[in-house]
Amino acid sequence: MIPDQWYAVMASSEVKRGRPVGVVRFGRRLVLWRDGDGGVACIDGTCCHRGADLAAGRVGGGHVHCPFHGLRYAADGRVVAIPANGLDAEVPENFRVRPWLAVDAFGFIWVFYGKPENAPDDLPMFEEFRGDFPYAERSEVWDVHYSRAIENQLDVIHLPFVHPNTIGRGNKTLVNGPVTKWDDETLTFYVKNEPDHGQTPQLAEEIEDWEQLSSLQYRVPNLWQNRISNDLRIMAAFAPIDDEHTKIYLRLYQRMVRIPVLRGIVCAAGNVANGVILHQDRRVVLTQRPKKTELRMGENLLRGDRPVIEFRSRRDKLKRAGEHLD
Ligand code: FES
Ligand SMILES: [Fe+2]
Repeated sequence: MIPDQWYAVMASSEVKRGRPVGVVRFGRRLVLWRDGDGGVACIDGTCCHRGADLAAGRVGGGHVHCPFHGLRYAADGRVVAIPANGLDAEVPENFRVRPWLAVDAFGFIWVFYGKPENAPDDLPMFEEFRGDFPYAERSEVWDVHYSRAIENQLDVIHLPFVHPNTIGRGNKTLVNGPVTKWDDETLTFYVKNEPDHGQTPQLAEEIEDWEQLSSLQYRVPNLWQNRISNDLRIMAAFAPIDDEHTKIYLRLYQRMVRIPVLRGIVCAAGNVANGVILHQDRRVVLTQRPKKTELRMGENLLRGDRPVIEFRSRRDKLKRAGEHLD
C-alpha cells in the first residue's frame, strides 16, 4: 500500500443508514456505519472484547454495538459503554480499536490509509467528476492485488490481443511511444498504436502530435480514467481488499444526453459494454503471476510498457517515502 493516501474503497450506496457494514480493505476487517448526521464512520471491525465481528451488530445512538455482549463503539474507535459493567461505569483505556478517517464524497467512501494528522483536506478525485456529471456504475471483485488491476488499465500493448472485437479493433499491434506526462500525482498517457506495415515504432520523443492523441489518466493512489471525449469518460477505482483481491468500481460518465430517460438508457448501455470489455481483461489478468507487482521483479518490460513503468516507479517512491510510517 502507498501510505498517507485517501483511497476510494466503496460506493457510497454500500453504506446504508441504520446498520453497520463489514468489508475487508487494506487486508483488515473494517466496519463502517453512518452517524446521526449522515457522515460515515470507520473503525477496525473486530471487537476488542472477544473478537466478534462488529458488522454483525447494530447501530444505535451514533455508535456501533457489538452483537456479542453489547459493547458500544464511537467513531474514534473507543468503547463508550460496557453494558455488563453498567452503562454509566467508566470504560478502561484499553477498550478501543483502530479508527480510520472516512469521508463520503462524489459517490465513494474514501478512507485514509496513514497517520490521521497527515491527511490532506482534498480528495484525489479527478476534477471533472466533482460537479454535475451523471454516471452509471458496476463493481466486481478480482482475485489479484490492486497493482495488477491498475496496470492492466495502463497497458496500451494488450488492446489488439485482448480486445480484438471491441476497443482493440483494427489490428493496431505496433506501439509508438507512448508519451507519458506527470502533473502532480496524475499520470496522463497518450496512445498511438498502428497496424504494422513494417515501419519502425516512434519513440515517445519523436511523436509531435501527442496532444491530439486519445489519452488516459491514472491518479495516485487508485483511480483511473479513459478520456474518450469531454462528455464521455470511463472511470475506475481499484479498492485494495488484500494482497490477492481487489474490488473494481467501474463508472461510465456521460453528459451528451441530458433527457433523464434517455440518459438512463445511454448510461445503462455503456455500463453493459464496459462489462464486456472488463471481462475480456479479467480472463487474462487473473492468470498473471505473481498476483502483485513491484518495481524490481523478474519481468522483461517493453518500451510500450512505459505507463506501467511510470506507475511502478511512482508507487515505489511513495512507498519508500512513507516507510517510516509503518
Ligand atoms: S465480543 Fe464484542 S462485546 Fe464481547
Ligand atoms: Fe483491457
